[in-house]
Amino acid sequence: MTEIGSHNDVPENLPEHGSDHGHEAARKDPFANPGLPPHEFRRQDIDPKAARHSERVVTGLFVLSMLATIGFIACFVIFPVDKIVYIFPFGHVSALNFSLGLTLGVALFAIGAGAVHWARTLMSDEEITDERHRADADDQLRENVRQQWITGAKESGFGRRKMIRNSMLGALTLVPLAGVVLLRDLGPLPEKKLDHTAWAKGKKLINSNTSQPLRPEDVQVGSLTFAQPQGLEETQDDFQEQIAKAALMIVRLKPGDIKDKRERDWGHEGIVAFSKICTHVGCPISLYEQQTHHVLCPCHQSTFDLSDGARVLFGPAGHPLPQLRISVDGDGDLVALGDFEEPVGPAFWERS
Ligand code: FES
Repeated sequence: MTEIGSHNDVPENLPEHGSDHGHEAARKDPFANPGLPPHEFRRQDIDPKAARHSERVVTGLFVLSMLATIGFIACFVIFPVDKIVYIFPFGHVSALNFSLGLTLGVALFAIGAGAVHWARTLMSDEEITDERHRADADDQLRENVRQQWITGAKESGFGRRKMIRNSMLGALTLVPLAGVVLLRDLGPLPEKKLDHTAWAKGKKLINSNTSQPLRPEDVQVGSLTFAQPQGLEETQDDFQEQIAKAALMIVRLKPGDIKDKRERDWGHEGIVAFSKICTHVGCPISLYEQQTHHVLCPCHQSTFDLSDGARVLFGPAGHPLPQLRISVDGDGDLVALGDFEEPVGPAFWERS
């Protein structure tokens, strides 16, 4: 049974503060129950004038709430939807929205403030303790439950009626399959579709903004340029799919800044091209920090170092961004020397 006691109830064997006996007990048991501190009376408990003042404050707050609610209804009726007013420091705002927000805010705040003030100053604040009782059941109760369980199992016939039991277990085993089947609605597996993109040997890099072939002199140190393969037309059926897989970002680094040998060899005079599709879950990457050569995926902040093979520096992405090998053709335009060698994007299933 729960025992409730007031601050006057002193638990047995408590050290008495200030006494030698108390110090001795505290030394022996540093975690001894310190008991309740002496009750401190509030001003309202001992001064009737202060109590009446608090009562007036609480009443005033509740009356304020009532007035604000009436104001809310009045504003709703008075202000037309399209009336704009200037209110410092907010500027031009809708009179209706502003007045409704203000009056409702005041109405709710005043109720809350009134309730808090009432509780803190006028309601009883006597400290009480509730001794924690044992959480475990006693032996007799446990035995009773065990017997009830055995009796219930016998009466249900779970052990005796094997056909029902087995069919029930079968049903319970199969029913989760319904959830597994629903996974099919996530869409078709990409199979090998992520292995290949529209990039191929000799395909020019087309500037995604100007739709013109990119030339090395168009790519300046510190800039980030987006490109797509030559020949992709918006009118073709699979344009969105192809552009999503082949999107490329191109930067020019000072050759001495490139730490990864393969990256340097696969670029052209410091110009390097990487897949723009984040290897976490496939967001397009777009934020380039030119001093550090880091690119940041805006979705979950994966950060890649473009001066070091697009290695993952931070975030949930598990793989570097695939690099496209590039060169320059006879026209002086940047071209791909083949497709990506790794699947672009998350490509969970293709990677070992
Ligand atoms: S998709 Fe890029 S970090 Fe998640």
